[in-house]
Amino acid sequence: MRIFHAVEQVRAGLAALPRPLGFVPTMGALHAGHLQLARTARQQCASVAASVFVNPTQFGPGEDFERYPRDVQGDAEKLSGAGVDALFTPDAAVMYPPGFSTIVDVGALGAVYEGAVRPTHFRGVATVVSKLLHIVQPDVLFVGQKDAQQSAVLKKLVRDLDFPVRVEVVPTVRESDGLAMSSRNAYLSREQRAGASSLHGSLECMLEELRNGADASRAAQHARAQLDAAGVWDYLDVVDAQTFEPLQHLRAPAFVIGAARFGSTRLIDNILVSA
Ligand code: PAF
Repeated sequence: MRIFHAVEQVRAGLAALPRPLGFVPTMGALHAGHLQLARTARQQCASVAASVFVNPTQFGPGEDFERYPRDVQGDAEKLSGAGVDALFTPDAAVMYPPGFSTIVDVGALGAVYEGAVRPTHFRGVATVVSKLLHIVQPDVLFVGQKDAQQSAVLKKLVRDLDFPVRVEVVPTVRESDGLAMSSRNAYLSREQRAGASSLHGSLECMLEELRNGADASRAAQHARAQLDAAGVWDYLDVVDAQTFEPLQHLRAPAFVIGAARFGSTRLIDNILVSA
C-alpha cells in the first residue's frame, strides 16, 4: 500500500490505478466497521483508496477533537491488510491552508437531529468530503450506515453538486451484544459499556411498537424505558430515510434513529426500514 501526504502526490499516484476506484474516507482509529467498508470496496472495485484525517471542522467547541484516538501507523497496517492500495493522510495545513474560507452546507438535512446537537458538524463533513472527492476522484464512495444522517447528507451533497461518484452505504458492524462499532466506544468505562448495549435493543423495541401500529411518540415512550440507567437520551425517533423529516407512523424507507449519552460519551445508532 502506498501512503501519500500531499495533494499533487496522491493525484499522480491514483491516476495510475485501474478503475473503478473505490474510496473509504475515515478519521482513523479504525475498527471492524471501517475494515468492512474497505473489504466491500475491495470486492466491488478494481482499486481502493482510503483516507485518514481527523477533520477539525466537523468538531464543535468542547467536543473530543483533541482526545480523538489517533494511530496512523496501526491504521495503515489494518488498511493494507484489508486490501487498500493507497492511503491519503494529510496534515491539517494541507487540507486547510492559511486563508481557507469556503464552506459546503447541505441546508435543512444538516440542521436536525445530529445537526441540532452539533450545529457545525455536517458542514464540516460536507466540506472535507467535497475536498476529498476532488482530490481522490473516486468512482464509488463507501460510507457506513452507522452514521445514517451523514450518509444521507453525503448522498445529497453528491446529488446537489453533481459529483460523478456513486455512494455505497455499507451495513453497520456490531459487537456480539448488538452495540454498533464506533471509535468512541473506546471512551466507555466498563459500566457505561454494559449500559450502552441496550441502545440497539431500544431501537428494536421502537421498531416493533411502530410495526404494531403505535405512533412515533407512543412507540418512543415505551422504547426509551429500555435503555439502562447508565444512559441519557438525546433523541429517539423515526424519520424519512432521505430527508430525516420525522414520521408520525412507520412509512418505509425510514430510519429508526437514536442518540444517547453515557457519561461524556455520546453514541448514535439506527435501524433501516427498507421499502
Ligand atoms: O465518518 C467519518 O469518519 C467522517 O465523518 C468522514 C466521513 C471521514 C469525514 O471526516
